Amino acid sequence: MYRTHTCGELRLANVGETVTLAGWVQRTRKMGGMTFVDVRDRYGITQIVFEEQTPSQLPLKGEGGHLQEQTSSQTHSTLPLEGERGEGLLFDQANKLGREYVVQVTGNVNERSNKNKNLPTGDIEIIATELKVLNAAQTPPFTIEDQSDGGDDLRMKYRYLDLRRTPVRKNIELRHKMTMEVRRYLDSLGFLEIETPMLIGSTPEGARDFVVPSRMNPGQFYALPQSPQTLKQLLMVSGMDRYFQIVKCFRDEDLRADRQPEFTQIDCEMSFVTQEDILQTFEGMAKHLFRELRGIELEGAFPRMTWADAMKYYGSDKPDTRFEMKFVELKDVFAQAPGFAVFDDAQYIGGICAKGQAVYTRKQIDQLTDFVKRPQIGAKGLIYARIQEDGTVKSSVDKFYGEDILNALKERMNAQPGDLILILCGDDAMKTRKQLCELRLEMGARMGLRDKNKFSLLWVIDFPMFEWSEEEGRLMATHHPFTHPKDEDIPLLDTDPAAVRADAYDMVCNGVEVGGGSIRIHDPELQDKMFRILGFTEERAQEQFGFLMNAFKYGAPPHGGLAYGLDRWVSLFAGLDSIRDCIAFPKNNSGRDVMLDAPACLEQKQLDELYLSLVPVKNEK
Ligand code: AMO
Repeated sequence: MYRTHTCGELRLANVGETVTLAGWVQRTRKMGGMTFVDVRDRYGITQIVFEEQTPSQLPLKGEGGHLQEQTSSQTHSTLPLEGERGEGLLFDQANKLGREYVVQVTGNVNERSNKNKNLPTGDIEIIATELKVLNAAQTPPFTIEDQSDGGDDLRMKYRYLDLRRTPVRKNIELRHKMTMEVRRYLDSLGFLEIETPMLIGSTPEGARDFVVPSRMNPGQFYALPQSPQTLKQLLMVSGMDRYFQIVKCFRDEDLRADRQPEFTQIDCEMSFVTQEDILQTFEGMAKHLFRELRGIELEGAFPRMTWADAMKYYGSDKPDTRFEMKFVELKDVFAQAPGFAVFDDAQYIGGICAKGQAVYTRKQIDQLTDFVKRPQIGAKGLIYARIQEDGTVKSSVDKFYGEDILNALKERMNAQPGDLILILCGDDAMKTRKQLCELRLEMGARMGLRDKNKFSLLWVIDFPMFEWSEEEGRLMATHHPFTHPKDEDIPLLDTDPAAVRADAYDMVCNGVEVGGGSIRIHDPELQDKMFRILGFTEERAQEQFGFLMNAFKYGAPPHGGLAYGLDRWVSLFAGLDSIRDCIAFPKNNSGRDVMLDAPACLEQKQLDELYLSLVPVKNEK
């Protein structure tokens, strides 16, 4: 037996017991005739005391079974591992322990005179009588502390060491708890967990596929699933009724803080349901997770906002509703007094009111102007108006507008003395709203309104069925081609498809899309029509989705579903800035696994086996 207890377990009640612990050396401190060694494992840290006077009870050669095995594979240790009995030897050994050595310590539990209130085991210490080095360790490339001195790249390269750090380990533990609670909740509602294949054909989720060449089928490729969308729909045709899967999905798309090329969905599908049934079921799951994992009781139904309103008031389909600061349209206010060409020519003028921020200095306003002018945001400039203590308005467009217009602005914005109004304008309403959205989020952050411990959930519903793709020069499905249009909009499919709304919904929390789904088309004719609007020829639709269309001919139930992003949920609960921190072995921003050094080139032999030949990369950086 390597240990009798873990390093997080011992309390005052154990005082007097002889125990054996095993773990990693967190740190050693020598103080006079005593050496203190903190030993760490997944469960905690325990202080071990080595006293100079303690006679070593290190076993003699041949005693202590696994000591001998372990020492034979010892390469780095400089310690006298095969012990001799003798005064002070144990103490000397302890003084030679390096950081991250793997040790086994036996000793007696003692009440500490100097208790450490910050440590659950802080009331006790172990007076060591025996020490075995199970493995030596090189000095780690960064400190294994809560606040590490390692940069991102270094920590990713040695991720197995990073995972020893408590904050990182806690994220992994939270992730485990979340999957357990998800399973518990869905099982209680009769969902079946069913695995679907990873080697499939292309799935149309709008990103590029990762593909896998097939050796047995020369020149042919599998695609890794972007989601199990079509397969879960087939399971509904099979009569499985309620399916879920905690499943890896793969998307070859540009990465951001909340996107990984390989991520995990809690993927669900239900038969004989309306949109309302699905929203209720998954709102229930969100509440369950908040209750069990954060101890937060979310009261009442989640608010629902149409996509059109989300865009109008927040410039985003995933509004951060932890704070108000809604957009106010101002075109008509300024149109009353033409003369300022920038506003006169703009198609859209929108403002936000930052409460109490009239104190913003010229320099701070300049910083905000630089912020909105950054290429990623792309606004041409920023106009502001301060409401002064006496209620008068002082703005950057004073010379173009009289008091009446400035007062009308104040009123429209519902601004009070001390408030700061920030205005953006542009030719393209949608683009300008997105810019204003960035400004709103920036102001929210500056004003401390985006508290990570406050959670604001909502459903965004009634997404448009299609969106125009400049790149493709055609309408594309906003969600995916299997999404059901709203019944009342079906006639518009023939006359004005761009105006058709879908039975599609996203769950949003604090400005993050944590899940999304839709009611599916189960009528083969409607599905056919959808493919035609999306520009598929009959042959291509057959080639890509013939299996699904065929299945629908054999009795498809009405069905719908949703997929939650597990990584996003965990990072939200853990207050992380990037989903990377809750994934055991994540990819970096260029999609690389720096620890495994993947992706990597293949040897010619492997390429030959797969019938692949490479084209030289153009413009290689
Ligand atoms: P969707 O594409 O909206 O829907 O994905 C569902 C949820 O998965 C998460 N997500 C991601 N998380 C991390 N990295 C990524 N690259 C990434 N992409 C998506 C988000 C998102 O809300 N088949 C449909 C679901 C359905 O209709 O049932 C689908 O995949 O949290």
